[in-house]
Amino acid sequence: MQVFDPLSVIYKSVGSEEPYYRLVDTFYAGVEADAVLRPIYPEDLGPGKKHLAQFLIQRTGGATTYSDERGHPRMRGRHMPFKIGVKERDAWVKHMTAAVHAVPEFEKHSEALLEFFGSFATFMINQAE
Ligand code: HEM
Repeated sequence: MQVFDPLSVIYKSVGSEEPYYRLVDTFYAGVEADAVLRPIYPEDLGPGKKHLAQFLIQRTGGATTYSDERGHPRMRGRHMPFKIGVKERDAWVKHMTAAVHAVPEFEKHSEALLEFFGSFATFMINQAE
């Protein structure tokens, strides 16, 4: 059975990589100012921003630079070194929700994106509070 993946058409609709970097910059501005999330992230936020943008480009049907450079995403494993409970998950989703609404190219895909981010972020939880 073919299952339609609404995320797979987003890159084509957005049209270029630039809005993804705007999305990630907006999201990270929220992380930087967040007392729950900031301590979890490394001092230099640059590499993480690039990886998140490349991951999202790939996940939504764009270039596969993320996997070409970083290998299989293994997202849950990559997040294991960080303590992620419900509080961290909710803060992450709050900043990503604001970022999706702040970048006009993503607005018409906000429902599919926020559904994806919400369930993916719940899957990243690796600690009881
Ligand atoms: C649930 C709350 C989450 C927290 C607290 C969190 C935290 C982090 C942290 C601390 C890093 C390392 C950043 C760095 O090395 O500079 C990271 C990397 C990353 N996160 Fe999350 N994350 C969360 C959820 C998510 C979700 C839902 C996604 C995807 C939809 C995601 C995608 C990524 C990606 C792609 C990377 C880069 C991995 C790499 O090194 O290749 N994260 N995250």
